[in-house]
Amino acid sequence: MPEKIFIGIAWPYSSGPRHIGHMAGAQLPADIFARYHRMKGDEVLMVSGSDQHGTPTTLRAEQEGKTPAEVAERFHQLHSSNFEKLGISCDLYWKTSEQNHKKVVQDIFLKLYRDAKIFEKTMESPYCPKCDRFLPDRYVEGTCPNCRFDKARGDQCDNCGHILDPFDLENPRCKICGTTPVKRETNHFFFRLSGFEQRLREYLKDKSYWRQHVLAFTMGYMREGLLDRAVTRDIEWGVEIPLPGYETKRIYVWFEAVIGYLSTSIEWARRRGEPEKWKDWWYDPKAKHYYFVGKDNIPFHTIIWPSILMGYDEKLDLPYDVPANQFLNTGGAKMSSGRGVGVWLPELLERYDPDALRYYATATMPEMRDAEFTFEDLAAKNNSELLAVYGNFVHRALTFASKNFDGAVPAAGFLDGADKAMIRNIEEQWRKVGQNLDFVHFKDALREAIQLARLGNQYFDQKAPWDLVRKDKAACGTAIHVAVRTSRALAVIMAPFLPFSSQRLWSMLGYDSNVSEQRWAEALEDMPAGQKLRVGKPLFSKIEEVQAASGGEADMFDIRVGQIVDVKDHPRGDKLYVLQVDLGDEKRQLVAGIRQNYKKEEIAGKRIAVLCNLQPAKLRGIESNGMLLAAEGPADVAILIPPNDVPLGSQLLGKKGASMMGFEDFQKFKFAVGEEHRAYFLGSAGKLRVPLMAGGKHVIADKGMPEGAAVR
Ligand code: MF3
Ligand code: ZN
Repeated sequence: MPEKIFIGIAWPYSSGPRHIGHMAGAQLPADIFARYHRMKGDEVLMVSGSDQHGTPTTLRAEQEGKTPAEVAERFHQLHSSNFEKLGISCDLYWKTSEQNHKKVVQDIFLKLYRDAKIFEKTMESPYCPKCDRFLPDRYVEGTCPNCRFDKARGDQCDNCGHILDPFDLENPRCKICGTTPVKRETNHFFFRLSGFEQRLREYLKDKSYWRQHVLAFTMGYMREGLLDRAVTRDIEWGVEIPLPGYETKRIYVWFEAVIGYLSTSIEWARRRGEPEKWKDWWYDPKAKHYYFVGKDNIPFHTIIWPSILMGYDEKLDLPYDVPANQFLNTGGAKMSSGRGVGVWLPELLERYDPDALRYYATATMPEMRDAEFTFEDLAAKNNSELLAVYGNFVHRALTFASKNFDGAVPAAGFLDGADKAMIRNIEEQWRKVGQNLDFVHFKDALREAIQLARLGNQYFDQKAPWDLVRKDKAACGTAIHVAVRTSRALAVIMAPFLPFSSQRLWSMLGYDSNVSEQRWAEALEDMPAGQKLRVGKPLFSKIEEVQAASGGEADMFDIRVGQIVDVKDHPRGDKLYVLQVDLGDEKRQLVAGIRQNYKKEEIAGKRIAVLCNLQPAKLRGIESNGMLLAAEGPADVAILIPPNDVPLGSQLLGKKGASMMGFEDFQKFKFAVGEEHRAYFLGSAGKLRVPLMAGGKHVIADKGMPEGAAVR
């Protein structure tokens, strides 16, 4: 019996590029799951879209001097093109600024209001006396009362996932100006979450199959007791409140974004010309709803969204599973778009094959605990697993057939024990992959899939067709037949994980169809003898450059965003300034040789890139604790300037606290300016180019510099 599977992917905020953590944590597992179920013949509806409202977008817009709508649209375009490049196969990828979405939200809001599940209340909100405005949650920053993380936001702690109220924070400050906010009364609408406690308990009763950490978090939340939550905000960018007197307020971004799962389903059906079709998923009690999200999204999907659904219409389907992932960290720190820490998808997609990224992200998927992203690991997994095991196996099988059997599949004759065992391996691995996917264990599923290629290599070695072809051509033909048949099985089994290379392989095997449209059980089918093969270039290519970016090189640097807070002339050096620099969590004094290139007032207040792990040095008697990076052209010097909207202290390259290096050591490395004045680290004697970036944007030279100008 085909099943009905609804898949929701956490909606990326339209406030900046997303990092590989979003892909590994939510987008990729959802896509693998969708592709697998489609191949099984199940009816799948998968939706997502850009989460455009709320303060992540307005904060960026303010920093860039643009309207929130412009920023939201720009990143919506970026996200949808990234989804496409990665092969995330949503039936509809939409966005929350669409009228049809707003209508569904307002309809739900009104219905809940009429049923008294949403009510008005006067509350105290943080107000910044200096900025003269109410501060939405994300405009307040402070220390998390739960884990003591000192950059927790007013809505949630990025570090421990706790949902917070701005006044829960210790040492709260206005994100715009740093002032301590005061409490001021304002009217808002509240969602009566407390009224859903009983029904939520009922709903959660049979969810013992959820991932342990998801269940634990959800139950912990329930134990703390459910509080009614404000679902409107003092902000102008968002979905309008459908009641008079609230023109200056908007519906809270989280309340309306989750509704996107439903509104997008409705829109998808409307666009197909079958406007009722969404109901097949949302009103069928047997339909299973899966939500793929990161761990910071858990309570919104296991508590709040189910309550909204129950409150709106009891017959709607609730989440069946929320297989949330933990975080993928980088340099030991959590990736965060808001704080400009991360390995960004647009960059990665420019540099690597999407299947190499998909392979790596699945193989290190943070299913049970946090995992760490490193470029070495990406290169290692690509080179020694994807390429050396899988790519190599199919390449051996296909090129052997093409050289020795006229480029066609040889006939299988008598099957000996090894041949039969290999065919059983196909079935066995196919079954294990499927079983793991059924239980949303993606990492294990991929491991079993790659294991089939590994067994294929062993079989190939054991058969030694290069000898066999001279001794017994028929037996050799049988072996190659089985090896090509195994490659065919791999094309099908890998299709959910690696759709692009599976398609290439499928076509090399002589098929004109789409591998993703094959049935899952097609992996077990044999191949007709005589089918023409179209052997092309190897399935995967080696990742060379990145190996060089390993611990040895890029990670040696500790380069951070700083801001010059004071400039003085060096008393004993007419080319030197003495600078006081703010690095976010510390201040440092630097001596810099740019006095002949910049006037004091030109650089006071400027944001700069600081190499922090250079041994302290005395320059004409004054201590310098680090180095300001600048590009040197033939006629002028230009300091490097980071994007202006990333927090001070953000890491540009390498890792914080990298061990100290002397000036001599530093000079062994090369940095240079490339096109559009962008700064790069040139590792491995120029073979590797790692851009200096923060918040997804390039660090550039402050004045025009010829391409190739050195940075020091
Ligand atoms: N934009 C949110 C985030 O990145 C996720 C929203 S998921 C939604 O954390 F479906 F609820 F929109
Ligand atoms: Zn303020």
